[in-house]
Amino acid sequence: MIAKTPPMGFNTWNTFGKDINEQMIKESADAIVANKLLEAGYEYLVIDDCWSEKERDPVTKKIIPDRTKFPNGMKAVSDYVHSKGLKFGMYSCAGLRTCADYPGSFDHEYLDAETFAEYGCDFLKYDFCFKPESANGPHLYRRMGMALRACGREILFSACNWGCDNVPEWIRSAGAHMWRSTGDIFDNFESFKNIALSQAGKLGYSAPYCFNDMDMLTVGMYGNGNVGSAGCNDAEYRTQFALWCLFGSPLMLGCDVRNMNDVTKKLVTNKRLLKINQDPEARPAFLAGKHPWYDGRNVYMKLLSTGEFALGVFNLTETNGIVPMMFHEIGLPSDAGYSVELIDAFSGETVGIFRDYHNPEIEKHDCAVYIAKLVKD
Ligand code: GLA
Repeated sequence: MIAKTPPMGFNTWNTFGKDINEQMIKESADAIVANKLLEAGYEYLVIDDCWSEKERDPVTKKIIPDRTKFPNGMKAVSDYVHSKGLKFGMYSCAGLRTCADYPGSFDHEYLDAETFAEYGCDFLKYDFCFKPESANGPHLYRRMGMALRACGREILFSACNWGCDNVPEWIRSAGAHMWRSTGDIFDNFESFKNIALSQAGKLGYSAPYCFNDMDMLTVGMYGNGNVGSAGCNDAEYRTQFALWCLFGSPLMLGCDVRNMNDVTKKLVTNKRLLKINQDPEARPAFLAGKHPWYDGRNVYMKLLSTGEFALGVFNLTETNGIVPMMFHEIGLPSDAGYSVELIDAFSGETVGIFRDYHNPEIEKHDCAVYIAKLVKD
């Protein structure tokens, strides 16, 4: 059984786009291990779009790996990734062509699932471009879901239809383990803020074995690479990672894992943040208060299976200032005889014990995240 908790790994798309090859995949696998990312839980190395030749083999109808990018074929790449203790992921599309115009799996689902199994694939991201108008989207995901179950290998099914067709309502029944709920992320503050704020009604659909995927992280990209855009600063990356953790999204790194700085490594391997993301009960976060004057000064709370709870305090606005965190919003009336003890999730330091409220000053685009528990007065 896979995906009991949100899947974690690395995906090539955000940084490398079409510039992928055997060498950089091997180097990335090495770096994931050397940087202790595997130890932290990042176990899937996923090759996204642009890995194949432009046309299927005319005789076998199989998709052929690009002969220049992957001269030794895909099994050799997969064997190397496995030799490092990682799991190997690949990409295809429910339509006739992939989003970058390579062969899609439409009408070839069973053959392709068998091919992925031959490669030793453990994860399939399944996109939605070039879907024929006449074809039914949910049916196509069911078809690949069935093909994967028949292929003789346990393959994590990562659906990527960008939130279309009311996906949270049916995708779990199609066998997927994660499902993209939004359009593509770009490496700038507005992009990830809008993704996060669009999740309000969808978090309750995310649960063990099938998670709401808010897209690959741009943390640590600093504007470089395929979805580079304007880039973010460290406060913004902290905020992005905290939102993905609190909202229980899969955590797929999108930066160049061979060249991560210490700030990025420390952030994405933070044990307390990962504990929030990976909590086995996978309870959804909820909006536990927002500032009456500004949209975007938000507090989110997530119950943890340990009896603790996580509180995230976000200043998504353009001005520095307090973000009010009123404990009546989380179910603690005044004079109940309890206060809230807060530990800073980033540093691990105890912040203090607070009665009724705590209103931290948060700079624009930054956040604070706490592991909290109730203590008797
Ligand atoms: C779509 C997906 C992206 C990426 C590209 C590849 O845009 O949403 O995540 O896979 O296709 O072409």
